[in-house]
Amino acid sequence: MNPLPIVQTQIPADVIDLGLGNPPLSLLPLDMIRDAAQNTLSQNDNSFLQYGTEQGDGYLRVALANFLTNGYGFPVDPQSLFITTGISNALDLLCTFFTQPGDTIFVEEPSYFLALRIFADHHLNVISIETDENGLIPASLEENLAGSRPKFIYLIPTFQNPTGHTLSKERREKVVQLAKEHDFLIAADEVYQLLNYSEQPPKPFGAYIDVENVISLGSFSKILAPGLRLGWMQAHANIIKRFANSGLIDSGGGLNPFTSAIMRGVIESGGLGKNIGALKAFYGDQIQAMDEALRRHLPEAKYEVPHGGYFFWLQFPNQTDVGELRKKASAFKVDFRQGALFSSNGGLKNYMRLCYVYYDAEKIEEGIARISRCLQAT
Ligand SMILES: Cc1ncc(COP(=O)(O)O)c(C=O)c1O
Repeated sequence: MNPLPIVQTQIPADVIDLGLGNPPLSLLPLDMIRDAAQNTLSQNDNSFLQYGTEQGDGYLRVALANFLTNGYGFPVDPQSLFITTGISNALDLLCTFFTQPGDTIFVEEPSYFLALRIFADHHLNVISIETDENGLIPASLEENLAGSRPKFIYLIPTFQNPTGHTLSKERREKVVQLAKEHDFLIAADEVYQLLNYSEQPPKPFGAYIDVENVISLGSFSKILAPGLRLGWMQAHANIIKRFANSGLIDSGGGLNPFTSAIMRGVIESGGLGKNIGALKAFYGDQIQAMDEALRRHLPEAKYEVPHGGYFFWLQFPNQTDVGELRKKASAFKVDFRQGALFSSNGGLKNYMRLCYVYYDAEKIEEGIARISRCLQAT
């Protein structure tokens, strides 16, 4: 009998899926979580088994605020944090509380394809804003603002998914200024902010939350483990109030108090910081492996080596349709993601997203050699 499913994506044993944006099972820190859980569960205080306080476990928020103060490089106030069950959850709630079906929102072109799915669930009208190697282009944003007023703009400012690009500080400030002037929210998905492999990226949008329009979203998915389903939102008190005073929270209490209590221990013991350090060392080596394999096997692909995050974003010659290529990939026991998935205007057909964190160097090399064979056979 086949084992019953536990994980979201089942990859056949003989296939290398270089498109999958998941951490490898080998880097999910079972011992660390076990120690923290044992510690939490062996105390006499069982209050985390009760409906939780609206904004999220106060002790977790204090531990997280201290951690972020250090990681972000500016003071983070525990009162500015609201605990979520991850960024996907935060985006869905944002749409629920701040939009109606048919409302317009702006996203980067390209953008994280599964966030686009959430926006589709809410029947939003998605307009794409152009980007370059420094992220969103403010002139393109201004041009679109002349024609429509979005409820919010969804950005992945640092080590973007899929491009790996980072929005410059000057552009961040310009986007904040435009959000104030035109009265729209900024939903900054900062999931890769703490996964830099060389220099520090610019400060996250959490640095701008004195402006009521700015919401910064964080998650433990990529810095610890996605199965925890835990993340946070950092925002102005008025925004936090809108979330904390919702019917959902009134009925069910603050989100995920049980996991929050365990996570508090992981942070207070220094485990989270150690884990991020280990991930950075590991992923830094994987980047090099992917870069070398790409140079060896796919010289026709243009790309920049990322400085953080999870992904390489490859540009192939215009006539290459990566979606068509993908249909043939299973015969070569390999997979990837076509650029068109990340486009909200039917473009980017000659782009491919590859993830360098899931496989070791040997598999990366073999996977890219298979993509090359697949390309040559077309
Ligand atoms: C840009 C981006 N946002 C959000 C997520 C999902 O975050 P979470 O697990 O916190 O819902 C991912 C996961 O791949 C991602 O790449």
